[in-house]
Amino acid sequence: MLILVACVVVPTLAAQGRASPAPPLGAWTPVPELPGMGRPVDTASVAARRRALLARIGRGVVLVPAAHERELERDYLQDNDFRQSNTFFYLTELETQDAWLLLIAGGGAPETVLFLPPRNPFQERWTGLRLGPDSTAARLTGIARVLPTDSLDPVLSALLARVRGPLYVPLDQATRDEPRLRDLVFVGRDVRNLRPVVDSLRLVKDADELARMRKAIDISGLGHVAAMQAARPGAWEYEIEAALEAEFRRNGADRLGYPSIVGSGPNSTTLHYDVNRRQTRDGDLIVVDAGAEWGQYTADVTRTFPVNGKFTPRQKAIYDLVLATQQAAFDSTRPGATIAQLNRIARDYMRAHSGTLCGAQTCDAYFIHGLSHWLGMDVHDVGDYSTPLKPGMVFTIEPGIYLAPEGLGVRIEDDVLVTVTGAEWLSAKAPKTTAEIERLMGRR
Ligand code: GLY
Ligand code: MN
Ligand code: MN
Repeated sequence: MLILVACVVVPTLAAQGRASPAPPLGAWTPVPELPGMGRPVDTASVAARRRALLARIGRGVVLVPAAHERELERDYLQDNDFRQSNTFFYLTELETQDAWLLLIAGGGAPETVLFLPPRNPFQERWTGLRLGPDSTAARLTGIARVLPTDSLDPVLSALLARVRGPLYVPLDQATRDEPRLRDLVFVGRDVRNLRPVVDSLRLVKDADELARMRKAIDISGLGHVAAMQAARPGAWEYEIEAALEAEFRRNGADRLGYPSIVGSGPNSTTLHYDVNRRQTRDGDLIVVDAGAEWGQYTADVTRTFPVNGKFTPRQKAIYDLVLATQQAAFDSTRPGATIAQLNRIARDYMRAHSGTLCGAQTCDAYFIHGLSHWLGMDVHDVGDYSTPLKPGMVFTIEPGIYLAPEGLGVRIEDDVLVTVTGAEWLSAKAPKTTAEIERLMGRR
């Protein structure tokens, strides 16, 4: 964020004659590695994703913009001032801003062109090294044809005159203000939204995506352990949040997948409570719903535990019902099942096993949200919810019971990978049974 401030302020001062120009930079040559560009690209995986996309559309042109740097003065920046657009990342794994990806399908061999802004040595004093349109970029991205962004318009015009088929562009919030895309939509060509096509591909994760997700989820498990260890009656919710998020960062998380929910006592019954300002009390349960993001992919994990380290019999009874409900849904997870079926199985289970725990009603009346959502680069990841499960899909199973008059909320949320034969818990490293939680908290 300091970078952006300096960027804005220095030219103004220079113009007023109050600052001396930046020192000369000396010779500038492309360097073999560019630390500012992000993590290494799995060039084989992104090439396979681009091939799958082109095979899906058959014939046409695809144009995808990268995201831009956000503005400190206009946006509410709480982490970095740049996060890549998920569509662009999916097809390139590049964290480079202001770039464009062009794909051409049909009428010959598929083509891929990456457009990058020219490097600017003066700007790089603020931003650090950037990827530019040169052979280094071609090598690091696995895309042989890399051109400067100012050649996008002529290349695209020539192409649209030559190649038949629709023009696919992502039409979404991230690209709504992209003037180039707005203009294209109005040229009268058959312009279609790329998002549903890419979103459906994103439903099944490849090996590289799963490795990223496992890392984000493992880091999140460590954070949940740290939160349990930090809890004690009288601790403020934000102290527990601080321990959790410190552990995320200590283990290399890039940022939070979503704002951490740390809700104690009455706040445990507010589903998306993320104010985290209450002081906990002896006897409270606390719901911690938090996930780290790593390599553009996020976890989504919830643990509920007693701040004093010991469940009361009533808390344990409610907790065990939620846990068994989650297990019932997991046990039915396999290729071919649907999220709707699992939802039904979970609710039926909870209803059948409620006894008198929730008073006159069965406990499913207090399970007031859906059981599951897809997980990936977005915490509520993209994709059609009616799609039957296939190996490689990742989703959450997160039943809960929220008894507001008692200030007693329990949610248990884990991330699950669909396998050939069933399913795998991805977030098993975060302690979950009451015995595991009490054992861990007893060691504080
Ligand atoms: N953390 C948000 C959710 O579980 O959907
Ligand atoms: Mn969730
Ligand atoms: Mn969650």
